[in-house]
Amino acid sequence: MSLLLATSFDAPELALWQTELERHLGPERWCVWHPDLGAAEREAVEIAIVANPPPGSLQGLPRLRLIQSLWAGVDRLLRDPALPTGVPLARMVDPAMNEAMAETALWAVLSLQRGYFDYAEQQREARWLRHGQRRADAFRVLVLGLGEMGRTVAGRLVRNGYRVAGWSRRPAALPGVACYAGPEGLEQALAEAEVVVNLLPLTPATEGLFNARTFTRMREGSSLVNLARGSHVVEADLLVALEEGRLHRAVLDVFAREPLPADSLLWSHPRVTVLPHVAAQTDPVTAARIAAANVRALRAGQALSHLVDAARGY
Ligand code: NAP
Ligand code: GLV
Repeated sequence: MSLLLATSFDAPELALWQTELERHLGPERWCVWHPDLGAAEREAVEIAIVANPPPGSLQGLPRLRLIQSLWAGVDRLLRDPALPTGVPLARMVDPAMNEAMAETALWAVLSLQRGYFDYAEQQREARWLRHGQRRADAFRVLVLGLGEMGRTVAGRLVRNGYRVAGWSRRPAALPGVACYAGPEGLEQALAEAEVVVNLLPLTPATEGLFNARTFTRMREGSSLVNLARGSHVVEADLLVALEEGRLHRAVLDVFAREPLPADSLLWSHPRVTVLPHVAAQTDPVTAARIAAANVRALRAGQALSHLVDAARGY
């Protein structure tokens, strides 16, 4: 039985993943997905390890027993109409990746609190201008999504002295975090926050959450940090909110279309910071151990970890 690798990785990345996975599993029979996989190769696939796989790549695998994603977010996979139903889908949950996300969120929040993005903009214009200094304990940050990433981010922000609130679908309790849930909770939390950090999964319920209406609910002059998925934000509405001054800044790691098209107005907007989807990248060294543990659990008939609830969408 072989392990299928269906990814958007180049050859060196694939080789690295194979090495790291074999470090934990021992020698494996590998099958690297390509559009012309033969019947015998398809028959032999027991487990698919996937990272941004081409749509349709997981169909026609009669012995498939597990799909293990190397990505935390599985929205693209769940949108694939050819995704086999009834095969368990596990996502990547890696504490090292959560910490990487916390570093990105802290950088963005701290830069917004202390005005460092504004000073960078002023430097481009050779403008010497001091702004008032804000204390962390008077700076309100809202984290949307209190799952693996959101909880780690909220905890890091609390430890750095910020006034942190969080929002989730079900009520949550986290030390030092004012927790809100449900649609009413969102309205209240948005009205207070000076920075909103988005760490929601992309689902039918969260797609387009940041639209013209939401921007009017956000505190005047607040900023958005989107580290989750581009389609959470209606980009045209975001540009209007920035132009009207309702929003002060946007720090964006993810976009509805990636790579962000060269003609996107977001590239050159003076109050938008663009990152190329790098807020928390999967690290083969730490993540291979986690993926391999699920492969071993499946083969030993044990419970699988980090299974996705397809009906819920995350
Ligand atoms: P997770 O553990 O599944 O947590 C999801 C959180 O969102 C949970 O707290 C959940 O609420 C909440 N949620 C879901 N739907 C909601 C809704 N309709 N209303 C309110 N709250 C809702 O996910 P994660 O591991 O933290 O990852 C979050 C996302 O980060 C991923 O899906 C991915 O898109 C993104 N990501 C981005 C990068 C990057 O580099 N930019 C890297 C990794 C991940 P409950 O607690 O009530 O279930
Ligand atoms: C990256 O965006 C991931 O979902 O892992």
